[in-house]
Amino acid sequence: MPTPPLDPARFDLDPSRLWVMHCAEGPVPKPAAEALLEFLFRETRPWTVRWVEDFRGLPERVRRETGRLLGGSPADVTLTSTTTGGLALVAQGFPWRDGDEVLTPLGEFPANAWPWLALAPRGVRLREVPLWGGHAAGADAWRSTPPPVDADPESRLLDAVTPQTRLMAVSWVRFQDGLRLDLERLAAGCRERGVPLVVDGIQGAGTLPLSLDDLPGVVAFATGGHKGLLAPQGLGVLWTEEGFRHELAPPGGWLSVEDARDFDRPSTDLERDFSPDGERLEMGVPNLLGCAALGESLAMLNDAGPETIARHVQGLQTELLDRLEESGARWLGDGEGERLRGLLEQDRLGSILSFHHRGSGLQAMNRALKSGQERGIYASVREGYLRIALHGWHHRGDLGRLVAWLRES
Ligand SMILES: Cc1ncc(COP(=O)(O)O)c(C=O)c1O
Repeated sequence: MPTPPLDPARFDLDPSRLWVMHCAEGPVPKPAAEALLEFLFRETRPWTVRWVEDFRGLPERVRRETGRLLGGSPADVTLTSTTTGGLALVAQGFPWRDGDEVLTPLGEFPANAWPWLALAPRGVRLREVPLWGGHAAGADAWRSTPPPVDADPESRLLDAVTPQTRLMAVSWVRFQDGLRLDLERLAAGCRERGVPLVVDGIQGAGTLPLSLDDLPGVVAFATGGHKGLLAPQGLGVLWTEEGFRHELAPPGGWLSVEDARDFDRPSTDLERDFSPDGERLEMGVPNLLGCAALGESLAMLNDAGPETIARHVQGLQTELLDRLEESGARWLGDGEGERLRGLLEQDRLGSILSFHHRGSGLQAMNRALKSGQERGIYASVREGYLRIALHGWHHRGDLGRLVAWLRES
């Protein structure tokens, strides 16, 4: 059996349990938890907290490792609290004009809706674009058809651009149906149309490779750290393209200005500019406990390599579909097997394999979840889909457990 790219021994995962829901919350690896505790204990004895290694070093490590993982410069990284926090920095700082419109796909996770909806008093409107025929969301979410193999969400979004469109904001990987957008194509189309593209990257970061510096058109990429990035809740990162960042009004953090950490210069001297780097958008002292853990988790993901993790996950997904088909599991009936396999083969999925309910409804889906939990398997249901999320520590042995559960539920 090939060794998983992330060593399962580095996680505190009880062998009787199978966690296939990092799309809700990723497990924090033991080295990350140890790094966090080590810093926490330093904080109980503040004279042991080190200026260079901790105050400066912990956030710098997060910026460095984020740059490595996302293929961008560490100087372009802003430490935030959450995905919402990153998107709200963009929404609140962007120079809007009355009548502007933000385009998003229909049925985005609300972290990519409310920051734009909150702009209504400034005359900015959110317009949602259905990504395939029969696509529904909101109160009708369970009546939506699932994304078909020939879905072309990028064309639908680009065709929806109007002269009022000032910005487009999309999830890289969608939280419910698992559809992965082709950022390269979308970014190129947005660039041609002069529309900046903002990405909610939380369902792809840590499980898919990316090179933000090679994606002109993507101007911002926001993610929380607590899913595929395997860090505790409450710390996230925002990457911004330099020119775009300078169009944003900074929120006014006291550590986001020139010489902010040079206490030989009076902090009350306000004659200085905002920092040109990502820290320009930060708001005071960073979450250093979170940085201790996230820095460690990011380094682990980088050492394994996001390409390797993505290939591993795809291999497991393919094998899971094969084995479910052999077992005659109902989840692959009515063409669902061909749909998922087709999406997988066309690189249309991230780490979430989302099985559509196909009319069975919420109660049946929740019963299936419960029967999984009775076997120690933790999956999730969102808006008509049973989500099985695989990551770099999962292995083929886990597939046997999933098949045994799914063929009987
Ligand atoms: C696509 C997507 N965006 C954002 C979030 C989370 O947002 P935040 O980091 O602001 O809590 C989730 C899941 O919780 C998600 O699935």
